Amino acid sequence: MATRIVTLPGDGIGPEILEPTVDLLKRFVPDAEIEEHVFGGAAIDAHGIALTDDTLAACQSADAVLLAAVGGPKWDTTDPSKPRPEQGLLGLRKGLGLYANLRPVRPLPALYDASPLRREIIDGTDLLVVRELTGGIYFGEKTRTETTASDLCIYSVEEIERIARSAFQAARTKVTSVDKANVLESSRLWRQTVVEVHEREFPDIPLEHVLVDNAAMQLVSNPTSFDVIVTENMFGDILSDEAAMLTGSIGMLPSASLGNDSGPGLFEPVHGSAPDIAGQGIANPLAMFLSLALLLRHGLNLENEAGALESAVDKALDQGLRTRDLGGQASTAEATQAVLAALG
Ligand code: NAD
Ligand code: IPM
Ligand code: MN
Repeated sequence: MATRIVTLPGDGIGPEILEPTVDLLKRFVPDAEIEEHVFGGAAIDAHGIALTDDTLAACQSADAVLLAAVGGPKWDTTDPSKPRPEQGLLGLRKGLGLYANLRPVRPLPALYDASPLRREIIDGTDLLVVRELTGGIYFGEKTRTETTASDLCIYSVEEIERIARSAFQAARTKVTSVDKANVLESSRLWRQTVVEVHEREFPDIPLEHVLVDNAAMQLVSNPTSFDVIVTENMFGDILSDEAAMLTGSIGMLPSASLGNDSGPGLFEPVHGSAPDIAGQGIANPLAMFLSLALLLRHGLNLENEAGALESAVDKALDQGLRTRDLGGQASTAEATQAVLAALG
């Protein structure tokens, strides 16, 4: 049976970076059946809702889902009764059971000078943020009255156990569990559960606990001290944008969101729809290309193809490719050409 991939261009720079990525996908998986669906703000405009039942069903029955980005000022609202593009993204993650979000941060020597951090601080950094993606404050009960509002941060032992396992399985030298156990009850359950999984199932892998505020500081002062960082949904969201700057730009960071069973994974850049540069053809497509590499590796088991694409991105950067976010002048099309040339 042909490989079925659902693509979701979304909003802002989303369609601009997805288009060349679909061309790369066709090159690596010539028999792929590619099905595009409107998603996010575009789906609100077309259907009044960010994620239609149709689109969710298509994603559920696909082999993998490739998403660019959603959101934008057109749909920004503080009115809780209005639909938001981001609801589609959260609904898709939840609907596909994608509790483990892997965000690898591997700064390339060629880009050390594109980072605001000093080269000697970045040198040797190779870390993975394992972000819990379907629980915590994102999905707890929300309330809103005229004068108050609340978001519940809730985790079950089972939710913590499975993301802890993902982290230990990905670890090479160490797992750093990041929490706020000095203040939050949910963090105390987090820490206790991670310790229990460690003792029971992975006693040989070193485990440390770091409070989230300290982790934020160490990410920019001593990033080489990290291997795998495992953390709850919102801490992982914030820390991964911070960690992106080790690579020079948020436009470099890919992600893979995976679930338990044989269901499809979701592959998307960490960055958003970048409304400030949308429509200009200048977005950095590399986080999107690298997300395709993760799709090839984790979604389709095509390790060689994934490696070839990652090497081509590295080579293009080595040869001087720089989009504006990296301090250069290359357009999205020129960046695509450079990667295609490096692929040979
Ligand atoms: P953003 O990541 O879209 O942009 C932050 C800054 O980084 C902007 O200056 C932008 O121009 C730049 N940037 C981001 N990606 C880039 C790229 N590929 N090339 C060059 N520059 C890039 O974050 P934001 O502005 O806070 O959010 C904009 C919208 O995106 C919001 O609606 C937000 O909810 C949404 N968002 C969506 C996703 C997603 O779809 N996965 C992720 C994050 C934010
Ligand atoms: C991300 C984004 C999303 C998140 C938003 C758009 C809902 O910031 O994928 O990092 O917070 O998870
Ligand atoms: Mn984010």
